Amino acid sequence: MLLTIPSVLTPEQVTQCRALLDAAEWVDGKVTAGHQSAMTKQNSQIPEGNPTALQVGELILQALGSNPLFRSAALPLKVFPPLFNRYAGGQNFGTHVDNAIRTHNGSGQRIRTDLSCTLFFSEPDEYDGGELVVEDTYGSKSVKLPAGSMVLYPSTSLHHVTPVTRGARVSSFFWLQSMMRSDEHRTLMFELDQSIQMLEPGSAAAVKLTGVYHNLLRQWAEL
Ligand code: NI
Repeated sequence: MLLTIPSVLTPEQVTQCRALLDAAEWVDGKVTAGHQSAMTKQNSQIPEGNPTALQVGELILQALGSNPLFRSAALPLKVFPPLFNRYAGGQNFGTHVDNAIRTHNGSGQRIRTDLSCTLFFSEPDEYDGGELVVEDTYGSKSVKLPAGSMVLYPSTSLHHVTPVTRGARVSSFFWLQSMMRSDEHRTLMFELDQSIQMLEPGSAAAVKLTGVYHNLLRQWAEL
């Protein structure tokens, strides 16, 4: 399942983060690429562990921690500290699948990448191209979101970023390990949760189905 999460950050937070990111140190993006994807990856990144990356990353994770749609869809267990990239001057990232396991340099913590996230920091009219194209179950989806909004998609998907032919596309990207390894289970849990939200709170149906939700979580969750 590919899902858009609108307005993860407020316009004020986006402006504040953009000022910090624009002033940060940027290096060649091949530093976090695997062997194969390094051949098709052209962009800039802020180095992992850079103080600005940590500061803005913390702000993103705090915003996500209180975002009900994100929590319902991702059922996050461990989130990799957010990274930041920028595409300009025709740069792009060819078709690839993200590495299955990521090790955080600082802590040595390892996560299995179940979901990939891209949070946009440039408005769509600031640049041409730069669409994130994800090969989803029912065909390719092209994603270009307002600044402050995020897309969540299974890390098992082939995806690419089309060339940025005008302006610059700045975004944050990161991965998370979900309590649900299976995309199918995760999607079912999300749909069940969203359906329960439509029922009258406290009604007999809501109470029973909330019980079903938690009992499925007990069956399927990996902690
Ligand atoms: Ni990728």
